[in-house]
Amino acid sequence: MDHFVYKNGELFAEDVPVAKIAAEVGTPTYIYSKATLLGHYQRIAQAFLPLKPIICYSIKSCGNVNLVRELVNAGSGMDVTSGGELFRALTAGCDPKKIVFAGVGKTDKEINEALSADGGSGIGWFNIESEEEFWNLDRLAGLKGVAARGALRVNPDVENKGGTHAKTFTGKKETKFGVDIDRAAAFFRLAAKAKHARLNAIHLHIGSPIKVTQPYTDAITKALALIDELARDGIVIDTLDIGGGFAAFYEGNEAPAASVYADAIVPLLKDRAGKGLQIILEPGRSISCNAGILLAQVQYTKQGGTKKFVIIDAAMNDLIRPTLYESYHFIWPAKPGAAMVPASRLSTLRVSGDEKVDVVGPICESGDYLAKDRYLPVLTRGDLVAVFSAGAYGMAMSSNYNARPRAAEVLVDGSGYRIIRRRETYEDLIHGE
Ligand code: LLP
Repeated sequence: MDHFVYKNGELFAEDVPVAKIAAEVGTPTYIYSKATLLGHYQRIAQAFLPLKPIICYSIKSCGNVNLVRELVNAGSGMDVTSGGELFRALTAGCDPKKIVFAGVGKTDKEINEALSADGGSGIGWFNIESEEEFWNLDRLAGLKGVAARGALRVNPDVENKGGTHAKTFTGKKETKFGVDIDRAAAFFRLAAKAKHARLNAIHLHIGSPIKVTQPYTDAITKALALIDELARDGIVIDTLDIGGGFAAFYEGNEAPAASVYADAIVPLLKDRAGKGLQIILEPGRSISCNAGILLAQVQYTKQGGTKKFVIIDAAMNDLIRPTLYESYHFIWPAKPGAAMVPASRLSTLRVSGDEKVDVVGPICESGDYLAKDRYLPVLTRGDLVAVFSAGAYGMAMSSNYNARPRAAEVLVDGSGYRIIRRRETYEDLIHGE
């Protein structure tokens, strides 16, 4: 699952005690494990190897350019969703032809930037979300005198099996994403008349995380039927992007392995891939989530009514997922002692002498919590605590709310580590104001 393990009663990131990083870099700090990041990437690459896919890491999940560079070096492409993410991907040295650009609201500026990449021959695919966007891409490519490749994001209208949070399920009609599948064939027929933008690819992304395989197999089956229907009209689809959404380990037992997703998906696509259909995957969370923890320090504890609060120096501006999605992150002291080493990361975990607390930050909102009604060993001022499975959509969704400088980011590699983003300063806060 990851390389954040307790040895002799103390938490290590690979071979580095996290307390050492806290002493040298301070808290709150995001700590990433290179071996975990690359391990998850490799497991997906290996499982889907029979399809020879392009794996486009979803940079939105965790976009530090140093982490992105590690994945690029391992062979990854990138799924970007803004001009800023495109900039990150290109800065990290990503092959522009392995970049897919998603998003319902790409501006002319962003489209032009993507058309200009790779010395003017552009990125791999624009994932098209509407008719208006497609014709705008055609127009902008024409103005530049270049060709552009589009993939139509088709909304397959599949059921939310596995119960992903409503804010992160996208595969049903009446979400803002993609074009309804029953309108897709007509869209392709019309798009065939475009002069500068080619539309010969289908993009699916049904949500995040999808903990069961059936929504994938349902959506892919529908996409393949669409491909066959279009073939009868002489429209050749040469690329199928099946999106991201594979689950990660928060409690430790809930995510199917990459091979489980592959066992369900590969048989559907193997023959077609063999005949030249290019497959693209866009995993984000399943690569970055377990690769990061957020390390924080207890500032105070206090009683409020019947509740006990543990107030730490990380807050909702550092990790907004608990309050935004009611999401669970395992939290445990970094130096619990040998007797209190956690046996699992389950939300039901109990140890003798534990107590029920809310883990909260210093921000002036009652939504500022990282855990509610959580059983933890007794914590006191100065203790370090680790918030696990924080690599995906942690730092990436952080903000400066309450004028809090953003956390530092550290990358551990074996027995060494380096700061890959320095802690923001007060000056950074007003820079540009
Ligand atoms: N492709 C597209 C088009 C996407 O919109 C997303 C995520 C991905 C790929 C990557 O999905 P992943 O493999 O990471 O599940 N902030 C939320 C998650 C939002 C996901 C947005 N789209 C969270 O913290 O749970």
